[in-house]
Amino acid sequence: MEIMDIDLLSGSKKLGVTNSFSQDFDIILCHGDVLDFLKTIPSKKISLIVSSPPYNIGKPYEKRQEFENYLKWQKKVLEECVRVLRNDGSLCWEIGNYIEKSEVFPLDFYFYKIIKEDLGLTLKNRIIWRFGHGLHARMRFSGRYETILWFTKSDKYKFNLDRVRIPQKYPGKRSFKGKNKGLPSCNPKGKNPSDIWDIITKDWDEQIWDIPNVKSNHPEKTIHPAQFPIELIERLVLALTDENDWVFDPFMGVGSALIAGLIHNRKVAGSEKEEEYVKIAHQRILDALEGKLKRRPLGKPIYTPTGKEKISRIPEEWNRLSIGVESE
Ligand SMILES: C[S@@+](CC[C@H](N)C(=O)[O-])C[C@H]1O[C@@H](n2cnc3c(N)ncnc32)[C@H](O)[C@@H]1O
Repeated sequence: MEIMDIDLLSGSKKLGVTNSFSQDFDIILCHGDVLDFLKTIPSKKISLIVSSPPYNIGKPYEKRQEFENYLKWQKKVLEECVRVLRNDGSLCWEIGNYIEKSEVFPLDFYFYKIIKEDLGLTLKNRIIWRFGHGLHARMRFSGRYETILWFTKSDKYKFNLDRVRIPQKYPGKRSFKGKNKGLPSCNPKGKNPSDIWDIITKDWDEQIWDIPNVKSNHPEKTIHPAQFPIELIERLVLALTDENDWVFDPFMGVGSALIAGLIHNRKVAGSEKEEEYVKIAHQRILDALEGKLKRRPLGKPIYTPTGKEKISRIPEEWNRLSIGVESE
């Protein structure tokens, strides 16, 4: 076990690379199996459990198994998650599709059943995380969203909307009738971000327009094939927890959810079975604490091409080939 004290301007944080949960730390990185780590966490300790589990689709970090067995395993993990969740806490499960013989099985459909019907939590939102780019499908429409199922354990849950409001599109709008006629009608604090989140996985900022492989140029990209953008989790951390609450990611990967928590002064814990990812998570956390981690800040607008960029112009070859919309 490695224990490290880190002095920060804002105080001192204690980081432990350890196999068991301890209240003495502010940051816990467990290199090991999720179920083993979960057993060490006392009941009703965690305010926010946020994770993206393996989807059983044969990514480098997982072995495909029978879908039924995969769901049974996930149910065991979720049972333990519910045990360690505080009564006013939230569980957010980020999932896409499981695919077998070209058939799509939407995982949130199966997880809803487990978390709501078997484990008794209440669904608050089914958030659509929409991204503009990704693999191009050939025999079905290309997938461009995943979902986050946000569940609470009781009706007395934390939810602070004001911390995550976004700018109004038309702040100058005014009421046109009633007692407020003529007065500004928008909330000056901003609007509710809604349940569709345009948080991108690949940064299309001006400076990367001319670099062919944008994926590898996202400022947060590591070797992990399925990492969260930090800003995706920041919104959940801010809305669903308070400072010094515990945030836990059972399938931590390279620690994106932990970084989102740390940036906002939460205590954080994560478990991950691949040593290489734990090492990267460790380094990213140290960089984040020193203010050195490159990241895409929460709420940064998505770049909209002006049409003048080289990459948004129609290639001359296409004009020569006279490719166009053909009548069918
Ligand atoms: C979808 S990825 C999560 C990535 C993470 N959200 C991030 O931003 O880096 C799922 C992770 O779960 C890990 N994992 C799979 N089975 C595990 C287990 N039994 N115990 C702990 N971690 C596991 C995988 O190695 C993988 O890194």
